[in-house]
Amino acid sequence: MTSHMLVDTAKAIVADGKGLLAMDESNATCDKRFDEIDIAQTQAMRCDWRGLLITTPDLGQYISGVILYDETFRQATADGTPLVKVLQDAGILVGIKVDIGAKALALHPTEKVTEGLDGLRERLRDYAAMGARFAKWRAVIDPAPGGASSPSEACLRANAHALGRYAALCQEAGLVPIVEPEVLMDGDHTQAHGREVTENLLRHVFAALTRQDVVLEAMILKPNMVVAGRTCAMQATVEEVADATVQCLRRAVPAAVSGIAFLSGGQSGAQACAHLNAMHTRFRTSSAGPLPWSLSFSFGRALQHPALEIWAGQEAHRHAAQRELLHRARCASAASSGQYDPAMEV
Ligand code: 13P
Repeated sequence: MTSHMLVDTAKAIVADGKGLLAMDESNATCDKRFDEIDIAQTQAMRCDWRGLLITTPDLGQYISGVILYDETFRQATADGTPLVKVLQDAGILVGIKVDIGAKALALHPTEKVTEGLDGLRERLRDYAAMGARFAKWRAVIDPAPGGASSPSEACLRANAHALGRYAALCQEAGLVPIVEPEVLMDGDHTQAHGREVTENLLRHVFAALTRQDVVLEAMILKPNMVVAGRTCAMQATVEEVADATVQCLRRAVPAAVSGIAFLSGGQSGAQACAHLNAMHTRFRTSSAGPLPWSLSFSFGRALQHPALEIWAGQEAHRHAAQRELLHRARCASAASSGQYDPAMEV
């Protein structure tokens, strides 16, 4: 695949009014979400749930692509149709999570580095042959690990390097890399601290991507929004989140990057949409000029969670759950072009 085709795929991922549905939780994380609402934690239930999401009628109106976990990538609906084929027939791009998780960083036990580079070239080749068009790798950064004031240089560099290696391997294999450096919103850090850590992390990530000769036009950045820690007494307003996030991105993300698709990170669907929407409405006519990249979404929980609660493992709730997913996708789509209104929630 030429880099021209990869650029087209990257642009299709963040096409107007569209974004990604992240449903690539590992089995352990999916089971944890099931456990919270008393759904049996079995392979069959995970398959039912993922099949429900993917077969939602009209999903492709708002969702350009879906990120799958390896187990889902190989599963099929009750009538035997592979889930990958269901997506392809609906005109939805298929993505695959290829990291194998965040592990303790040597000599830095409170910090993590994401693993999965060994054998990655072969795995990417196989996924591409089976229909994947893009891949995802997530680095996880605690903004105040073990109570320290900031993440260590060792942690930032190790994670950035891995993202650079992964992204280069993806492009070589004909897949668009979704580069996800996530500063967690867990903890009581201030928004100002979150902004500082996010900007520093993004600078490390783009230095590493550039060092590995990654084609920036043929990748998507999946960052966190700049919020205060979940338990911080001073929460930022919607406008403050939008302003700090855009400031950070303007400083650290080259204009050549085709698209930015935010993770939701534990925000509710309505919060995540309000924040994304404000980035569009506040910067549409900014004196600094228009934003150089498409700003869209790649939400996991903010799209799935309300639907999961409605489904609760009951076949009878299937259609209601799909309606809720479609509603959340419609709201996220509206937010990605500055058309979201909280009145859509009632
Ligand atoms: P959340 O939107 O729930 O943060 O999930 C996005 C994701 O893909 C995490 O890797």
